[in-house]
Order: sequence, then structure tokens, then C-alpha cells
Amino acid sequence: RKDLLDIASLQREEIELLLDQSTAFKKLLTSSGKKVPVLEGKSVLMLFYEPSTRTHSSFEVAAKRLSAEVTNFNVAHSSITKGESVRETVETLQAMRTDYLIVRHSRSGLPGLIARQTKAAVINAGDGAHEHPTQALLDAFTIKEKFSDPRGKKVLIIGDVLHSRVARSTSTLLQKLGVEVAFLGPGSLVPKYGPATICRFTNYQQAMAWAPDVVYLLRVQMERQDVQFFPSLREYHRIYGITNTRLEEIRQRGLYIMHPGPVNRGVELCDAVMDYERSLINNQAENGIAVRMAVLDWLTPGGDLPKPEPAYATR
Ligand code: CP
Repeated sequence: RKDLLDIASLQREEIELLLDQSTAFKKLLTSSGKKVPVLEGKSVLMLFYEPSTRTHSSFEVAAKRLSAEVTNFNVAHSSITKGESVRETVETLQAMRTDYLIVRHSRSGLPGLIARQTKAAVINAGDGAHEHPTQALLDAFTIKEKFSDPRGKKVLIIGDVLHSRVARSTSTLLQKLGVEVAFLGPGSLVPKYGPATICRFTNYQQAMAWAPDVVYLLRVQMERQDVQFFPSLREYHRIYGITNTRLEEIRQRGLYIMHPGPVNRGVELCDAVMDYERSLINNQAENGIAVRMAVLDWLTPGGDLPKPEPAYATR
């Protein structure tokens, strides 16, 4: 494979391979922490048009651990601010013979468009409300660390599913691994996409009666909301958030809590969740490095360009 653009097109065997490789890289990181020469002589360019802490820094660490040369393309100080298009930017960068392009953009499908213009391996680091494939892989990896066979386990994804590329990628991947997925959120923000096997709830108690093993909270993305239709943040916390009272119930039931970050404390969850013994939020951040090492190692720059016009689902 030249690119990683989505989860939808990955075969189960490819996912299993990537998760096994992530285990090997995590062992390597925790045992020696030394660089390995897997990408020696290769160059990785980070092209982030939207802010990022976890994805950006873990890709950078992952690439450096694999001995690649990493360049951060600073969008704010580039000719993009003078109106240069993404196409011209990519052509310019291509002339510099980059091997891997890691792209985050607010436009769904943009990494796919770039992948068809360049021989570099393109990795989607989050495109609009479309996909965030490496987040899904690290989520699945984190769940597999707790349940070695996750088949039949239940993951309840809470929040603004409609605008969430994480919800789309993670729910798709978990289902490919045989995990049951349900969505909970305001009716207008829980879309109908995905197979009929996905349960959709608007009521917290009813969703918890579904008996999840993992409660996965999505970040409230105010930057993508039509505020007219969104409850106040205080209301959101009361209706869908993990309050102190709900955390106590979650603790008694022994459920795991996940969140892709960044967390809006007091909105998706109360402060006490950060100290909850079954919170996997820090595990997710840590696992991002091993998983992204596995992805970089797996892709082959210079391979066939992807076929035109992949089918991006519209909402
Ligand atoms: N989960 C995630 O994508 O976080 P960042 O926006 O910090 O990269």
C-alpha cells in the first residue's frame, strides 16, 4: 500500500497486521527506547492545516524513532497565507522528493486528492468530519491491550458523532474486529450512517442499560457546531457528560473510559475521570507512537497512485 487514507478500505488482515506490528514497536520502545534504522534515508513531511498536539507530536516521534528525517511545514508562515493552493504547495513539496506526507486538513477527502498527485506515501492525520485512521488504530490497539480478544465487547461512543472523524473511523474499525458499537448523543448529532447493527441512543440511562464495556467520549467540537442547535456546555455535561455521580456508577461496574483528546474538562467529563483507575486516556496518547511507527513501516512510498474519486460518504 502507498497510502493510509481511511479505515473503510482496510481489510481485517491488514488491521491485524498493523496491530501486531504496533505490539512489536511498543515492546521495542519500552525495552530500549533506541532508534531503529527502518526509515533511514527517508524523509517525512508534516503538513498540518489544522491544530494538533497528539497526532502531530506522536507522528514526529514515531518517524524519528524509525530514523527518518522529519520536516514540519509551517502553514502559518508559508505561501499559503499569500493564497497558494494546496495543489501548488504539494507540487512544490513533491519537487523536494518527500517520501511520506502526513496531512491534516478541515476538508474531507483532501488527503486522498493529494495522494493522487504525488508518489509520496500519504497518511491522513484527520480530514474534516471524514476519517482519522491512525486514531482508530490506536484506539483498537488500546482496547486490545485490555481485552486480548475484543470480539463481542461493547463500546458506547458518546457525543457529537455527526461531526466526528474519530467516531467514524473508530466505529468502523471496531466493527471490523467484531466489537459491538453504539452511539449516544443529541438526536441531531447521531447520524444514521453505518450498519443497522449500530444501536443509537439519545438517553444516557438507556445507553448504559445496553451494558457497555468501554465508554468512549468524543470531544465537543464547538468549531464545527451550529450553536443554534447545540445545548449549552453546562447542559451538555448534565445530559451526556460523565459527572461525578455517573463516574461512581462507572467505577462500580468496572467500565473503561476513553477519549481521543483534547479533553474539555467539565463538558465531556468531570476532573475526577483523569484520576480514574480505568481511564485509558493516557494509554491512548502513549500508544499513538507505536501505532504510527507501524503505519510508517507498513506503507511503501513510490507505489501505484490511488484510483480516481474514492467514494466519500456524504452526510
Ligand atoms: N486525537 C487527536 O487527533 O488529537 P490532536 O488534535 O491533539 O492531534
